Amino acid sequence: MPATKSVPKEMLPVVDRPLIQYAIDEAREAGIEEFCLVSSRGKDSLIDYFDIAFELEATLTARKKTSALKALEPTRVTPGSMISVRQQEPLGLGHAIWCARSFIGNDPFAILLPDDVVQSKTSCLKQMVEVYNRTGGNVLAVTEVPREKTDQYGVLDVGKDDGKLVEVKGLVEKPKPEDAPSNLSVIGRYILTADVLPHLAKLEKGAGGEVQLTDAMAKMIGHVPFHGFRYEGRRFDCGNKIGFLEAQIAFSLEREDLAGEVREFLKTYQAK
Ligand code: G1P
Repeated sequence: MPATKSVPKEMLPVVDRPLIQYAIDEAREAGIEEFCLVSSRGKDSLIDYFDIAFELEATLTARKKTSALKALEPTRVTPGSMISVRQQEPLGLGHAIWCARSFIGNDPFAILLPDDVVQSKTSCLKQMVEVYNRTGGNVLAVTEVPREKTDQYGVLDVGKDDGKLVEVKGLVEKPKPEDAPSNLSVIGRYILTADVLPHLAKLEKGAGGEVQLTDAMAKMIGHVPFHGFRYEGRRFDCGNKIGFLEAQIAFSLEREDLAGEVREFLKTYQAK
């Protein structure tokens, strides 16, 4: 706030792409071809963003602005491959996923929460798909957080742990640091089987009075293979200010057209 008063959080840019574009690009790299945006009132700009901006593109074409036109390419989706459902009330992440149940059907599916952006050589979700192809079941991207921050995340009770792949013995949503079973937290990347849907359908309220995905997933432990995966890469929690600012720096430093100047101006701040 106040930026997200009238602009959806998913449309805030990191460098020059909105957060939603990072999520879709990551999913595409993982081989995903069908998308469902769970949105809410006031978020229609997300749908417009993935439409053809006919006038804009005609003007850019007439003026031979080829680099601007090229920058629009990732905003194109195959006709019919993206749908949107509205979550009419903010009843929690579990409820948001339940709203997409017709889209999900009986297939395994991935969830990407666009406020988590991951910088990595291979997209985080692609790494997870590789794990899923070996393990099946549920795969969650996980990372260690400082213990005092466990109350911001879903946290794992850890079984067998080979350093990369972790057996999920339990899951707790936003535990207080003193109650947290570990400091290994879930980031906004999930591959789940559709078996989660009947648990979500009960719409039971959990932490914060919301329908929590974590609670529904916890009910699947012991019934499907269930793993946490320490992905390679760096996650930026763009839902908080520091994470968002850090993402701007990190992503601009990997851009050839910007890195040099960004490095130079950062030096002038370090000197102060
Ligand atoms: C959600 C999930 C939480 C997860 C987090 C990752 O929380 O409920 O389990 O760790 O995303 O970003 P939220 O950020 O919506 O509070």
